[in-house]
Amino acid sequence: MIIDSEIKKQLVEAAIHVRNWSYSPYSKYAVGAAILTSSGKVYDGANVENAVFPLTMCAERVAVFNAVSQGELDFEAVAVVTENAGTPCGSCRQVLAEYGLDTLVIIADHHGTIHQEKTVAELLPGAFTPKDLPKS
Ligand code: THU
Repeated sequence: MIIDSEIKKQLVEAAIHVRNWSYSPYSKYAVGAAILTSSGKVYDGANVENAVFPLTMCAERVAVFNAVSQGELDFEAVAVVTENAGTPCGSCRQVLAEYGLDTLVIIADHHGTIHQEKTVAELLPGAFTPKDLPKS
């Protein structure tokens, strides 16, 4: 699938929209993510914090788990939106790597300006993937 500028814009807009649902009373750092499947659907997610801080879940993983729990395993691109175009954390990079290293990660700010576009492979060189597990 060609990820043209119109598709990127739509994904960023979806991430901006879902970011409004971020539950981040502790960090006050709202994150929104929207992931495009190869079947053309978009699943989104916002970060969800907890008074037990380590239980916080990042927006990217909420979006991925939302998609995977609907049977979607093939991803083309994911947009991540924060106030300052922060990059996805290591855990989210690893979770994205599970489903493919070619997924495009579009990192944007809350105005919709894209700051970086990188593949998962670029964000997580030498990723551990299902292929690294011994065959049973
Ligand atoms: N956060 C994300 O949602 N995604 C990331 O990749 C980085 C961090 C969230 C977790 C927490 O709610 C807040 O941002 C500050 O770390």
